[in-house]
Amino acid sequence: MDFAVSNRPLDKLNADALIVLLSKKGDLPETLPESTREQIGQFIKAGDFSGSKNQMSWLHQPDGVAASRLLLVGVGDREPGRQQWQELVRKVIKTVSQAPVKQAIWAVNGVFSAPLEWQIREGARLAVESLYRFDQYRSQSGPASKLKKLTFWHPEKDNSLARAHKVGKAVGTGVNLARDLGNLPPNDCYPEYLSGVARDLGKQYEKLSVKVISQAQAEKMGMGAFCAVAKGSERQGQIIVMEYKGAKPSKQGPVALVGKGITFDTGGISLKPGASMDEMKYDMGGAASVFGSVKTVCELNLPIHLVAVVAAAENMPDGRASRPGDIVKTLSGQTVEILNTDAEGRLVLCDALTYVQQKHKPHTVIDIATLTGACVVALGAHAQAVYANDDDLSQALLAAGQETGDRGWPMPLWDEYQSQLDSPFADMQNIGGPKAGSITAACFLSRFAKEVKWAHLDIAGTAWISGGMSKGATGRPVPMLTRYLMDLA
Ligand code: BES
Ligand code: MN
Ligand code: ZN
Repeated sequence: MDFAVSNRPLDKLNADALIVLLSKKGDLPETLPESTREQIGQFIKAGDFSGSKNQMSWLHQPDGVAASRLLLVGVGDREPGRQQWQELVRKVIKTVSQAPVKQAIWAVNGVFSAPLEWQIREGARLAVESLYRFDQYRSQSGPASKLKKLTFWHPEKDNSLARAHKVGKAVGTGVNLARDLGNLPPNDCYPEYLSGVARDLGKQYEKLSVKVISQAQAEKMGMGAFCAVAKGSERQGQIIVMEYKGAKPSKQGPVALVGKGITFDTGGISLKPGASMDEMKYDMGGAASVFGSVKTVCELNLPIHLVAVVAAAENMPDGRASRPGDIVKTLSGQTVEILNTDAEGRLVLCDALTYVQQKHKPHTVIDIATLTGACVVALGAHAQAVYANDDDLSQALLAAGQETGDRGWPMPLWDEYQSQLDSPFADMQNIGGPKAGSITAACFLSRFAKEVKWAHLDIAGTAWISGGMSKGATGRPVPMLTRYLMDLA
């Protein structure tokens, strides 16, 4: 999909479709040619179009413009919020992509008052996301979209807008990579597969270097918690490290992302119930968002120094698997009593967190994980939980979520919750009981990020859509993370 911005007169700008958003008030955008406005006016008067929310009508051979069709899109009587506007854009792109339209123009007009730059950035991103499909496992795929080019049109020339669609496209590409990885079946997407994805990215982008720590090496290094999870699987666990040097390494160190990459979570010996267990293929959603974000950062050539770590393992019940009651020593030296082998995400993450701090001395670490069912109970599918030991970091992530519509919500990390992790036998246990499950999981991780600005995103509710034919990975929180990284740069 290609994007452009243009301010050429609409009677000179050829296309198969011109998209125009209209409010219910029927005010026609002043930027459109006189004869086009007249024709739309008649169309409205005749009762063919009212401008009500989500209404869409095609008008062929419109007057005054070179495009061969108009798509009139109703936004309703009140200005949509940014979230609603994003929903509308997804619908518009779906409609356009099902029509015989190769090239479309979007007349960016005043019915929606968000900055032009924002509209173009998000418009390009949502277009890339809306054309996403995952049909590599079907023997016959449906008709492909013909839409190849979308031009954002605005009468005034504004050079800052050209970058907006590049940013949007790069973020959409990162989101779609995360969705692909999430949607892959767990028989094909296992830890070593993810190492391959990292190596491919490393070959593709000059500024990205990749290193993989094997399970055997991890064991020698002292990653006892990570290995306690990985050792129950035939598939070898992998600690995947990607370093992107878009800026010279500085004294303050890099920013680090750490993703939970459980390619399948059976629960281990604390086996999960069978219903919907297939959805635990998405338990590498944190890792997927790390890969997606790295891709976006590379595409945009951002001037930052970033280290991204993926803790990849498969959580299986096996003769070699960890048992409830096992005590393991983490890379940090702290010991953990594993009371429930299904609380495996924190076990793989704690060693990855320690590793990245010891090895790379980052100024900030953000981990991303489909960590707890309790988070889904608390926040549902709309917001990811945001935990942080630093208020500025928390604010920056929440703001990045607002800006992109990939929203988070702040959660407490109070000391009072920490005692739920007390163990009679080890430094801590890996579960905190039935209360506040997402918070105690975050408290567990906080013990491995004491000397650094750290945030944890629990994306259990946002990383994928459950059930039915709309089931699939969402690619969240790539928009939030990449916006945060762009704000850093
Ligand atoms: N991957 C799951 C969390 C999860 C469950 C995400 C359902 C999305 C939907 C995680 O590894 C897990 O099993 N967590 C346990 C923790 C518990 C044993 C303390 C959970 O949430 O039940
Ligand atoms: Mn689990
Ligand atoms: Zn899990």
